[in-house]
Amino acid sequence: MANEEFSTYLDTSDEWIRSHTGIGFRHIAEPTTATSDLAVEAARKVLSKAGLPPEEVDLVLVATATGDFLGFPSVACIVQDRIGAKKAAAMDVGAGCTGFIYALETARCFVLSGGARNVLVIGAETLSRITNWQDRNTCVLFGDGAGAALVSADGSGTNRGIISSVLRADGSGAELLSRPEGGTRFPFTDRVVDPVATYLKMDGRQVYNFAVKVVSEGIVNIMETNHLCINDIAWIVPHQANVRIIEAAAKRSKLPIEKFFMNIEEYANTSAASIPIALSEMSEKGLLKSGDLVVTFGFGAGLTYGGNLIRW
Ligand code: ACO
Repeated sequence: MANEEFSTYLDTSDEWIRSHTGIGFRHIAEPTTATSDLAVEAARKVLSKAGLPPEEVDLVLVATATGDFLGFPSVACIVQDRIGAKKAAAMDVGAGCTGFIYALETARCFVLSGGARNVLVIGAETLSRITNWQDRNTCVLFGDGAGAALVSADGSGTNRGIISSVLRADGSGAELLSRPEGGTRFPFTDRVVDPVATYLKMDGRQVYNFAVKVVSEGIVNIMETNHLCINDIAWIVPHQANVRIIEAAAKRSKLPIEKFFMNIEEYANTSAASIPIALSEMSEKGLLKSGDLVVTFGFGAGLTYGGNLIRW
């Protein structure tokens, strides 16, 4: 869906959206497609690429803020059944847009502890379902999508995979990005007063300030903790929320903007799916070489933030 479609019914323009966010398009799922449908497709692709039979998956993790159902069952259980991962445990990871980063670290800990050999990690969202399409402050920002990774104990001694992660939260900002009603605080009743209150609501300016601070400090923190400098890093893959956030964070941390991968123009903000979609696209375009060090960094609802250091 191109930006121009919004100007047919809202007071906005392609020029405003591009200049304030860097977004040109977003992909919107068919009305009959739910988050698990996108997740299943991503899961099948990654298993086929890795040549791993679904029976050998020990754990399915789905990072999402837009489950098929409210609360339960999890998207992960639906995926587990549909792909035939008969021996797998399954659970969702709810950390907003930082979900994939949290899920990768969860997978790493399961593998390191010996609790699992193969963990399927998926980021999948249909944000179009919880977007208020009449609110120009938010509806132009989001899109639908999914991406997946397989985290395995391959024992080949190649030292590839997730080297370390930093995961953080600041729940004092919980109300800055939320779906105010429909949960147990303000449950649905047979007299739901305001359906709009079940949609995503955001204080964009406050989230912007938070994001610039945590992204700029967090990436430097990951490099320092691992005794690395920017020349050691092939790519920084930030959560694709807004080009201006990424540019401001790069400037503040004095990191070269060329190191930051961005594909937000095509997909907009796909929340927990944005980093796996970015990694997948980079891989397909041949931008990632075996042995490259990659830093991911995300932020989002919760508020949550964090990043992974990955050897590709
Ligand atoms: N078209 C035209 N005008 C708009 C639009 C639009 N789509 N959206 C907002 N405006 C207007 C506002 O109404 C406001 O008008 P006013 O001054 O008359 O009230 C004006 O633009 C300026 O509003 P600001 O909020 O100051 O605009 P800003 O330059 O800060 O950009 C934005 C807004 C893009 C939302 C920015 O604050 C931002 O990127 N915030 C972070 C959002 C984000 O990344 N969220 C997701 C993170 S977590 C997750 O991924 C779920």
